[in-house]
Amino acid sequence: MKKTTIKKLLAVASVAFLGSLILTGCGKSSSDQSLKQIQDKKELVLGTSADYPPFEFTTMKDGKKQIVGYDILIAQQIAKDMGVKLKVVNTAFPSLISELQDKKVDIVMAGMVSTDQRKKAVDFTKSYYKNSNVLLVKKGEAAKYNTVASLKGKAVGAQQSTTQEKIGKKQLAAANLVTEANFTNLTNEVKTGTLSGVIAEKVVADNVIKSNPGQFEIAQVKLKTPASDAPVSIAVRKNSPALKKQLNKSITKLQKNGDLDKFMQKAQDLQLEQK
Ligand code: ARG
Repeated sequence: MKKTTIKKLLAVASVAFLGSLILTGCGKSSSDQSLKQIQDKKELVLGTSADYPPFEFTTMKDGKKQIVGYDILIAQQIAKDMGVKLKVVNTAFPSLISELQDKKVDIVMAGMVSTDQRKKAVDFTKSYYKNSNVLLVKKGEAAKYNTVASLKGKAVGAQQSTTQEKIGKKQLAAANLVTEANFTNLTNEVKTGTLSGVIAEKVVADNVIKSNPGQFEIAQVKLKTPASDAPVSIAVRKNSPALKKQLNKSITKLQKNGDLDKFMQKAQDLQLEQK
């Protein structure tokens, strides 16, 4: 065979190869029903855990219990962008990932961080909030708990299966870590003195302080938030690129037009109003 013929053959082969790559690529995305399924049933089912103001909490409206908050305001906009209705399902935080895997819900928004461990089980969108962690204690005890050593043997709470639990185990190993499925119970136990403190996200702690005037403050001890434990994102089932793309589009829009900041403010105001 002449050299030029070989070159021509190679060129034809590589075009065919590229073509087949493109075709299989297309095949994959058209078999992804993640977004279409939601649009067909005209309803987006959101799984959340409404024990976590300002991210999500319950209020009474016209004698009816309602789930509201930052995540809900975002989810409402997401549903609107998809042209569907939003249905909110309330579950304990530790069960949310399995509810998503079992297809009981379409997405999860619960102030949830896209940790490396969770990424093994589900997928996450881009982040819509970045958090940091603090120790929330009773008013007057901030200076008493100023170092890790000052917490030795003290009962410190963290919500079960959360990044706060991980931070407690790693950074406050000498404390006596108490975990519970419900976050609100933990803050109540700080109030009654059963717990010396509770590990909480800064924005969540600030909210507890504002809505319980004179009762709580942030301890002087510094907790580190690893970069992989900071980004709050929406969880979706694995292999749902179409849904993820649509969610990312809505998040980018809300980031750019300033609504994300407005929603956080609105959620905080809402919680203070009901107190
Ligand atoms: N950000 C923490 C995590 O992802 C805690 C979230 C708790 N959310 C809730 N709705 N209780 O692990």
